[in-house]
Amino acid sequence: MKGRRTDTRLVHGGRRREWRGRLVNPPVHRGSTLLFDSVAEMRAAAPGFGKPYYGLHGTPTQWALAEALTELEPGAAGTTLHPNGLAAVTAALLSVLSTGDELLMTDSVYGPTRRFCDGFLKRYGVTTRYYDPLVGSGISELIGERTKAVFLESPGSLTMEVQDVPAICAAAKARGVATLLDNTWATPLFFPALAMGVDLSILAGTKYVGGHSDVMLGSVTANAPWYPKLERTSWDLGQSVSPDDAWLCSRGLRTMGVRLRQHEASASRIAGWLREQPQVAAVLHPAFPDCPGHEAWVRDFKGSSGLFSFVLRGGGDSERTRFLEALELFGLGYSWGGFESLVVPADPERLRTATRWESEGPLVRLQIGLEDPDDLIEDLAQALGRWNSGS
Ligand SMILES: Cc1ncc(COP(=O)(O)O)c(C=O)c1O
Repeated sequence: MKGRRTDTRLVHGGRRREWRGRLVNPPVHRGSTLLFDSVAEMRAAAPGFGKPYYGLHGTPTQWALAEALTELEPGAAGTTLHPNGLAAVTAALLSVLSTGDELLMTDSVYGPTRRFCDGFLKRYGVTTRYYDPLVGSGISELIGERTKAVFLESPGSLTMEVQDVPAICAAAKARGVATLLDNTWATPLFFPALAMGVDLSILAGTKYVGGHSDVMLGSVTANAPWYPKLERTSWDLGQSVSPDDAWLCSRGLRTMGVRLRQHEASASRIAGWLREQPQVAAVLHPAFPDCPGHEAWVRDFKGSSGLFSFVLRGGGDSERTRFLEALELFGLGYSWGGFESLVVPADPERLRTATRWESEGPLVRLQIGLEDPDDLIEDLAQALGRWNSGS
């Protein structure tokens, strides 16, 4: 697929003739055991990408998805698959960290990633130091003798700060420190992470890759220096994904480009409309200037996806609850990246340790789905009207 453009790679990636036969899509290969023809063949075999060995190391169904994801990231050596996005994060961290090391972690990180660092990694003897997501090249001053990795998530969970990924990665590389990015929001389509200097790029495939809110999966795509360690760690942790789930994600991937562009168009329109509403104090959408790090988005990203937050003007949790419960088209539920719109109340002030989160009113996070944006705007308008009048 070298030289082909992204949409073409999305359609053709991983569909090797030897894996799909005469079918268009590689089928679901279910199996734990793969049989060898002789003891000599069994003894000579070793696990590895695309090599039949044992279910843990994949079948053509998982390899097809992993290869398609690798082909989306210029500079990638390979991709590992994990049961969900959080498992991809934790496997990536365990690939680069050992007891006694220090990890620099963005203060805007996804809550369960923070919990893993503060609990599991702490017990394992790794210290986590949180940094301001907007630190940029100032990360150099935080890198110490024991620092072995910098973890980024851009934009950040809930508060959407866009990080200066190239500057942070350049500073880390100069000191021999590994960089990991949770790239779930942008995907390689809108942010080619490895080309920007990242060593290990993580996706919660549960979101835009699957795209239909019916599968959980994660992936880590790494460059050549890190891929062997990542693959080994993933096997040692016993991480594998069901071929049905891999197949669903391969299926989702083929339409990810058109879906993302529709999410982008609708979310941008709705964010622009929300900015004009008197009940809204700020819209935190990377493509709009109120969002911290907006300049980095303009410089580095090829697009924006369907997830953003906004701050209500005044009011507290009970007013926000009334607003959320008045919405008819937005489901109340965790996750995002599916075809349907969702909403969650967000309280980042409870999570932060390196920076303070302060706002004029309560925060709401929206996932804009593929419904007609005019219907979504009408729904938001009626719910904001009720919030405002206190009825
Ligand atoms: C930014 C981010 N990373 C990782 C994850 C974890 O993905 P999963 O739900 O597949 O474990 C999520 C889930 O919401 C997320 O928002």
